[in-house]
Amino acid sequence: MENFVFENSTKAYFGKKCVAQYLPTLLQQYGSNVLLAYGGGSIKKNGIYDEVMGILKKAGKTVTEFPGIMANPTYKKVLEGATLARNHQANLILAVGGGSVMDCCKAVALAAVYEGDVWADFWAKGGTIDFPTIPLGIIMTTSGTGSEMNGGAVITNEDLKAKTGRDYPQLNARFALLDPLYTYSVLQKQMISGAFDSLTHMMETYFSAPDEDNVSDSINEALMKSTIRNLRRAIQDPEDYQARSNLVWASTMAENRILKLGKKGDFQGHILEHALGAFTDCNHGCGLAVLLPIYYRHIKVAGAVKFARFATEVWGIEKDGKTLAELANDGVEALVAFVKEIGLPTTLRELGMTEAQKALLPQIAATCVASPGSYKHLDGAEILDIFNEAW
Ligand code: NZQ
Ligand code: ZN
Repeated sequence: MENFVFENSTKAYFGKKCVAQYLPTLLQQYGSNVLLAYGGGSIKKNGIYDEVMGILKKAGKTVTEFPGIMANPTYKKVLEGATLARNHQANLILAVGGGSVMDCCKAVALAAVYEGDVWADFWAKGGTIDFPTIPLGIIMTTSGTGSEMNGGAVITNEDLKAKTGRDYPQLNARFALLDPLYTYSVLQKQMISGAFDSLTHMMETYFSAPDEDNVSDSINEALMKSTIRNLRRAIQDPEDYQARSNLVWASTMAENRILKLGKKGDFQGHILEHALGAFTDCNHGCGLAVLLPIYYRHIKVAGAVKFARFATEVWGIEKDGKTLAELANDGVEALVAFVKEIGLPTTLRELGMTEAQKALLPQIAATCVASPGSYKHLDGAEILDIFNEAW
């Protein structure tokens, strides 16, 4: 193992009815003003809003609502939330939703107390948070991003056509309540794209140096296999609690820094998808389903040893006298087949891009940087090739 320092300051509460069990006590640790943040309204249909609001009222909290956080949250929405948090002197931000709500609220927790230009100082480039931000609590309603247990926040600046993620440990939520039952009302397409997103977090960590025997890669293989197996089960029966609960915790594990210990990490696929998302507002997991397999076809020779191990350890492919290159290819193609099996898009057209948007591909590609963690350095021309092949 390489050297590392590990810390994760989020306290996670997992399981059926955990909100009713733990939220009342957790609320006692914060002042009376709560900013209740949520998305486009799913929590009003599935009963989560009523349950949470009931607990907040019973605890005597003054609640200010911050609704309408969109998928791929925008910087404008962050500033709106920051103004609300400031005007109402929020003592706690309670984010109830998926990655978009959680990410937006992390940025709000910072923007509400920072005097300068938050985008310029913390997203355009990495910044230093050496001052207290507003405490954040999370109630997760859909899984996949792993945002519930890290400091990552991916924000879209519409004016600059940039979708940028930063991970600040200071923005980790104080607590995260993860009830797999809350995810039952998620549309099947979102359930699948979320699970695939978490699988990509595992892969983007796994396919990077170092490649010698290390605990992180071994845990990673177990998580990838669990996610593939349980996603298949959840597609068959969306109310299979074992499957849904495993998907939730595996996605948290993929992004709570444990898998990344001692690993360089790649995340070239995410760089490509975020650029695409900035221009098209596409679903994150679906964008990854299109781009990541094509990227892996480009790097499978450079990373042949690991792609071959992926084939045998994750997909159970027999060696059968195959060469390393053949086995590596089988690993990538097993992933391609899985994307088709679970019904995610495999081309940009299937993702919903129009002929008119196709003309944007050179511009989208030009905003992508090459990941220093990749098995192969991609130049601008090869990045554009990937987008064109994805068309
Ligand atoms: O907005 P509402 O009405 O709540 O509906 C949401 C939304 O339409 C719906 N939903 C959520 N919980 C539900 C539900 N519908 C029914 N029942 C429920 N219980 O699901 C839809 C998608 O929600 P969203 O939060 O956008 O999805 P996701 O969790 O996939 O988050 C995506 C965002 O996270 C970023 C992505 O780039 C994207 O902006 N990421 C954040 C990361 C991080 N912070 O570590 C890492 C990831 O790689 C990712 O980039
Ligand atoms: Zn992701």
